[in-house]
Amino acid sequence: MSISKKKVAILISGRGSNMRAIIEACKAPEYPAEVILVLSNKADAPGLEFAKEQGIETAVINHKDFAGRDEFDEEVAKRIQQSGAEIVCLAGFMRILTEGFVKQFEGRMMNIHPSLLPKYKGLDTHKRALQAGDSEHGCTVHYVTPELDSGTTILQEVVKVDAYDTEDSLAAKVLAKEHGAYVRALAIVASKI
Ligand code: GRF
Repeated sequence: MSISKKKVAILISGRGSNMRAIIEACKAPEYPAEVILVLSNKADAPGLEFAKEQGIETAVINHKDFAGRDEFDEEVAKRIQQSGAEIVCLAGFMRILTEGFVKQFEGRMMNIHPSLLPKYKGLDTHKRALQAGDSEHGCTVHYVTPELDSGTTILQEVVKVDAYDTEDSLAAKVLAKEHGAYVRALAIVASKI
C-alpha cells in the first residue's frame, strides 16, 4: 500500500545542501513527504539548479523588488499557497519573516539552525561555540515562531568539539549531521499533521 505524502515547499537562499538531502529522502516510497516547490529570494542560489534538475518546480522572489518585509512576505505566502504545500521547510533561508507570515504557517513551518538551541541564536554559531570553549555543539530542527530561532525543538544532533577544531571544521561536522536531522524531523512532522 502506498502512503500519502505531505506536500512540502522548501525556502532557500544559497547552497541548498539541506534541501538536497530532503529531496533525496523523499524519493523513498515510504518517506511521508514530497517536495513540490523550492523557492529562493536569490536568483543565483546554487540549490535552485539541483531542484530544477530533479524536475521540481522552482520560484524566485527577490526581496529587493518589494517596498518592505510585509509586501515580500505576502508574495512568498501567496506562492506557497498556490503550490498547495502543507509544510514549509526553511533551509538556509536568510530572511527574517514577519509575524503575519509565520502565523499563517504555524505548526507546519520548520527551520534548521546550526547550534544546540537555545544556545547561539542568530549568526556565527560555530565561532561562538568555539569562543565559549564548548565541548559539544550541534544543530536543532525546530518549529518556526515569530521570535527568531525560538520555536519548539523537533530534534537535535550533537557533535563533539575537538581541541583542533576551527570554525570551518566545526561547521563541516555540524553540516554533516544537519542533513540526517532535517530528514528525520520532516518525517516526524509529516506523519503528525
Ligand atoms: C545550514 O548550516 C543551516 O543550519 C543554516 O544555514 C545553512 C544552510 O546550508 N540555517 P544549506 O544551504 O542547506 O547547504
